[in-house]
Amino acid sequence: MAALLEVDHLSIYFRDQAVVRDLSFSVGQGEVLGLVGESGSGKSLTSLSILRLLDAAARVEGSIRFEGTDLLTLKPEQMRHYRGCKIAMIFQEPMTALNPVMPVGRQIAEAIETHQPKLGRKQVREAVLEAMAAVAIAEPEQRSRDYPHQFSGGQRQRLLIAMALVNRPLLLIADEPTTALDVTVQAQILLLLKALQQRNGLGMLFISHDLAVVAQIADRVAVMRQGVLLETGTRDQVFLHPGHAYTKSLLGAVPTLSTNREQPLATLAAAADGGAGSLVEQVPGHWVRCSPSV
Ligand SMILES: Nc1ncnc2c1ncn2[C@@H]1O[C@H](COP(=O)(O)OP(=O)(O)OP(=O)(O)O)[C@@H](O)[C@H]1O
Ligand SMILES: [Mg+2]
Repeated sequence: MAALLEVDHLSIYFRDQAVVRDLSFSVGQGEVLGLVGESGSGKSLTSLSILRLLDAAARVEGSIRFEGTDLLTLKPEQMRHYRGCKIAMIFQEPMTALNPVMPVGRQIAEAIETHQPKLGRKQVREAVLEAMAAVAIAEPEQRSRDYPHQFSGGQRQRLLIAMALVNRPLLLIADEPTTALDVTVQAQILLLLKALQQRNGLGMLFISHDLAVVAQIADRVAVMRQGVLLETGTRDQVFLHPGHAYTKSLLGAVPTLSTNREQPLATLAAAADGGAGSLVEQVPGHWVRCSPSV
């Protein structure tokens, strides 16, 4: 599978303190990489660095290649061509990402017009309605005139997905896209995302702190902690044969029907062996960071 996105030796510093350290991963065309880690592990900073949306105080090292082009070396106006067009992003909180005082149809239209200025009004209108229908918003014609507050949380997230996909990106970065939603709606949005990803052959970087969510959507998984990649492999490799103590503890912290309720759930603190060792390929494609003492 050709790599669409290749992140190599990425480090992100704030005032000389590394918050992401020597991180490497790739996302192939049409592939979903699930990036998992607890709060503060550097997931959002990693996704923002790909779009070059980090705040100016951040220092970034390494390379981020998209279709072979190092995004970190592009001029700001060249970067605009990638952001929102070839690479789209959806965020955790749908309400803050939508403009509360503009009808949703107009917001989707603006996303189209920004990247496809030559389209006529009628074509833009058709594309808006098609995008809304693709994310299963009923009666798009009528609903396109409504404002964000007139939609439910799940519908707002659908609208953001519509807006993200409207310029047919090759890569979608989804940072905790379902975390703010209740479990039933979360499942519907995951199914929708997976269906759209497959239909459009999208590469996707799917970020979550929730392993159960990642298991439903990712082809490959990368586990991060405190800015360091601890383990990466196919979904089955990581979920069925976790190699790192931290991954095991994350899996152990998810109760299942077979969990012995007499035993306390494994705690994340039980696996505090840091990330100073090197990554070792255990079987092809399955890399696990060893503790320095091993
Ligand atoms: N502007 C900043 N200045 C200094 N430190 C920052 C800044 N932004 C983020 N950090 C730190 O970088 C670390 C990683 O943050 P990041 O937002 O990437 O975590 P995350 O994995 O997305 O967590 P969450 O699951 O809570 O969203 C955190 O410890 C955070 O405090
Ligand atoms: Mg985050």
